[in-house]
Parts: sequence; structure tokens; C-alpha cells
Amino acid sequence: MEQHLLLGQTLHFSGNPLLSDWQDVTHHNSRGAVLIEGSRILAVDDADALKRAHLQAKIVDYGDGLIHAGFVDAHMHYPQTRMIASWGKQLIDWLNTYTFPEESKFGDRAYADAVAADTLDLALAHGTTTLTSFCTIHPESVDAFFTAAAQRNMAVVAGKTCMDRNAPDTLVDTAQTAYDDSKALLEKWHGNGRAAYAITPRFSPTSTQNQLSALGALWAENPDCLMQTHLSEQHPEIAWVKDLYPTSRDYLDTYEAHGLLGAKGLYGHAIHLEPREISRLAEVGAAVVHCPTSNTFIGSGMCDVLGLARAGVAMGLATDTGGGSSFSMLRTMAAAYEIGQLRGDVLHAAQLMWLATEGSAATLHQQGQIGHLGAGAMADITVLDLAATPAIAQRTRSAESFWDQLFPTIMMGDDRAIKDVWVAGQRVA
Ligand code: GUN
Ligand code: ZN
Repeated sequence: MEQHLLLGQTLHFSGNPLLSDWQDVTHHNSRGAVLIEGSRILAVDDADALKRAHLQAKIVDYGDGLIHAGFVDAHMHYPQTRMIASWGKQLIDWLNTYTFPEESKFGDRAYADAVAADTLDLALAHGTTTLTSFCTIHPESVDAFFTAAAQRNMAVVAGKTCMDRNAPDTLVDTAQTAYDDSKALLEKWHGNGRAAYAITPRFSPTSTQNQLSALGALWAENPDCLMQTHLSEQHPEIAWVKDLYPTSRDYLDTYEAHGLLGAKGLYGHAIHLEPREISRLAEVGAAVVHCPTSNTFIGSGMCDVLGLARAGVAMGLATDTGGGSSFSMLRTMAAAYEIGQLRGDVLHAAQLMWLATEGSAATLHQQGQIGHLGAGAMADITVLDLAATPAIAQRTRSAESFWDQLFPTIMMGDDRAIKDVWVAGQRVA
């Protein structure tokens, strides 16, 4: 089988730098190499050692470029690509004004195909090799996304967004059709190539208790699937949930009471949590996905990333486009850093890179397979140019350490910093 040997700086992790001294679990090699055979990584080691041992491998020399695991976006909405950066609204108004009218278009398969293709190509251009997406209520939108991802051989997670109240007529299903459509789609797509299905109730305000129960039953019947939703993003939303579910202990309980809390549950945002919710999330091994550009753009608040991680909650990182204001996981890491600063928590570049790769992969229960630069992982790889723009280059010229060289690209980088991308061992043209 053909082998490729990528030369450059390498960065990989052997543990969670949010929970231990980052230096103990973070491994940088300024003359490193990654050996790829077929679709997988065979070895990560010193360049000289791998070159000597694999004379027949085709060499791709990235010079000073940084080779790391492709970024894993653990929560986004591909149907919102055409309305990213819409002005002036907070969550509920933003959904009603911009989101729902746009999502209403996705019963048209040709439109869904076009937006899915654009979104996946934008992701790759930004160094993101895995997307975890909400679709719309239309099964066509799910088929469009998984089909476009399969054409690119990308590992993705997605599901039909279910809503049976508090949304326009063009965008509601029922408890029964949500169950039936989701079941048919997960049977078609879950484990098909690199696709994984996530049962997807949008959030408690747009589902009746009947619908939440039906989806909880479907998850119990298909425990191998993920479940994704939103949790405690904005205060008016939380107050609305209290009104709609007067007997629930808290927001998380609206999911738990309907069988929608579990280790394979992904809860987006989770900013304004009660202590009980934090301990329940940790107890069941559920994951919270931090969406920092969205949290500042829609005015939601500041997620306590370090506090949740230290309480035992699995943490991932995501763009949340189009509530998020960027397709870039670099910009997303920068926003996570800025929110950390506002909270008094200084996140290290190693912790940010871990969240954007290993952390997100673990929330998807694909640790060791994606988001990981190590033997046995799929060769989904991104190479960063750490001097991609004049502004970054003039700053890194005086860098005194690798971290001093990387951090300006995290803070100021975008798609111009993406030097190359590999998906399943194939270089993306
Ligand atoms: N809560 C329910 N739906 C959405 C959505 O589409 N985006 C965000 N940011 N929050 C939500
Ligand atoms: Zn979202």
C-alpha cells in the first residue's frame, strides 16, 4: 500500500491538558514526521528516524508548517450557512427572524445539496475535517448532508432536527413523523462509511413532551447513536423552558425525564447551569459543546469550560454556525480564549488545540479515530502555516518558543493559515 511521509513540526496529545499539567500530555516535535499508509496514520515520530526506516515513502515536506489532527467541529448547523452573520437579534428573535425562514428551504433537495457541498468545502478550507451538524426537519436535508460528506470521505455526525411546536408551519413535524423519519434515516446512515447519526431534538421549547418521549424511545432502541440538542444557552430561553415544563427540576431535567440524557448525549452551549445539572451531566458521562463565537455573537454568556471539565463533564468545541460567526476553528479557539480571559481563566494554546481536536472527538465517542495524531487514527490531518499573513509573520519573527509561534495564528489566523488538509489519507485538492 502506498505510504506518505509528511515532514514538519508535529503536535499531539497523550491525555487531557484541561485536567492535568498540559506539559505532561502535550508533545511538540520541531522536526517531526507523520507516516500515512492507506487511510490511516502508521506512525508519528522524529523525521530522521521515519525517513531512514521508510525509504520508499513519498515525502511531502511542509518545512516549518505545523502538522496536527484535523479540526473536529462538534456542533454546527449546515442549513444556516447562507445566513451566518445576520444582524441584531438574540436567540429567540434570531431563530424566528433569520433561522426558521432559511431552514424552511431545505425540503428542496437541490438547495440542500448545494448548501451541504458549500459547507463541507468551507470546512475543509478552514482545516476542519469533521462536522457535527443539525439538519432541518426535512429528511432530504439529512440525505443531502450525508451524501455530500460521503463524496468527500469525511467523518461526519448529523441528524434530522425535530420540532413539533413553536416553529412555523413550514417547519414542524409530529411526534410520530419525528420518530419514523429519524428511525429510517439512522437505519440508512448510521455506520454507513464514515457517517454517524445523532438523534436531534432541536431544544425543549420546540418539542412537545410526546415528541421528546418518542425520541427518547428511539434512542433507547438505538443506544449506539448519539443524541444532540441545546441546553441553557440564554436566560429568556431558560425562563421559557420553565413555563413550558413547570414540573421539571431544571432545563436538563426536561431531557432526562424523556430518556434524552446519556453518555452519548451532546449538549450545546450549557452556559447557565444549576449545580444539579452539572453533577448529572458528569455522573452520566455526557458531553457539553462550547460554542464561543456564537455565545458572544448572539449575546448568550460565558461558558465555564474549565469548571465543567474539572467537574467531570466531557468538553468539546464548535463553531455553531450560523449562530456562530465563523467557519474557522482557529477563530473559535480565539473566542474561547477571550471568554476564558473574561472569566479569569487563562486557557493555554495546548488546551485550545486539544479542545478543537481530541476533546471534540471524544464528545463524539470517536477518540483515537479522529482528532488524533497518532498510530491507528484515521489520517484526517491539517497543516498550519504559522506565518500566513503579514500581521502574523511580523509577530512570529521574534517568537521565542513554539507556543509563542503558534498562539498568534490561533488568535489572528483564518483559512489563509491552512497550508494543507488530508482526509482519510488523501490530500484534499
Ligand atoms: N437553540 C435552538 N436552536 C438553535 C440554533 O439553531 N442555534 C443556536 N445557537 N441555538 C439554538
Ligand atoms: Zn446550535
